[in-house]
Amino acid sequence: MAARRGALIALEGVDRAGKSTQGRRLVQALRDAGHRADLLRFPDRSTEIGQLISSYLGREKNLEDHTIHLLFSANRWEHVPMMKEKLHQGITVVVDRYAFSGVAFTSAKGNFGLEWCKQPDVGLPKPDLILFLQLNPEAAAERGDFGHERYETSSFQEKVLQSFYCLMEDKSLNWKTVDASKSIEDLHREIKSIAKETMEEVQNKPLGELWK
Ligand code: TMP
Ligand code: MG
Repeated sequence: MAARRGALIALEGVDRAGKSTQGRRLVQALRDAGHRADLLRFPDRSTEIGQLISSYLGREKNLEDHTIHLLFSANRWEHVPMMKEKLHQGITVVVDRYAFSGVAFTSAKGNFGLEWCKQPDVGLPKPDLILFLQLNPEAAAERGDFGHERYETSSFQEKVLQSFYCLMEDKSLNWKTVDASKSIEDLHREIKSIAKETMEEVQNKPLGELWK
């Protein structure tokens, strides 16, 4: 019998919902429980492509809208060999944002159909679970102002949210919405329990290909 594989778990959600905090907490808790788990974050600003993305987000550089979309996707693809290796070695990989952010943010610009936006990410490792951290705009506002990067305005974020809702209609993906207005600790417990269930369920199943 083939060795058990790790699960691919994506965290998505609106800004300030707590994706990064929960990603770190989840990986730490899994490790404490004796599982192997690693955290990745997209965009990964440390690569050459990631640096381009970072200077775009920081408004130091302007890039044409299709171009930046493809760079975000390329930034995921450059990690795919490493992600597959980890998953097949039994390491659970938690990703802080994934292709769904890619599609939701670009399509929120208008003039971009969801189908076009999805194409570059078709065939990426398919998440076994996508946790959507839901937070209403009022609760998000109470967590402080947006930063100063591109896309960090409430009108744009509202469009992003609508695009996420469209993506969630795809029942071939395992979306689970969690209430991110809970305390960090309560949300962490819920996420940990869903993640562990998923890890059990998929350990003997083949890794899928996204949107294929
Ligand atoms: P971060 O704040 O989580 O580092 O994400 C940077 C920004 O990039 C955030 O506004 C979401 C956006 N983004 C995209 O536009 N496309 C993508 O593919 C990803 C992963 C993020
Ligand atoms: Mg940000």
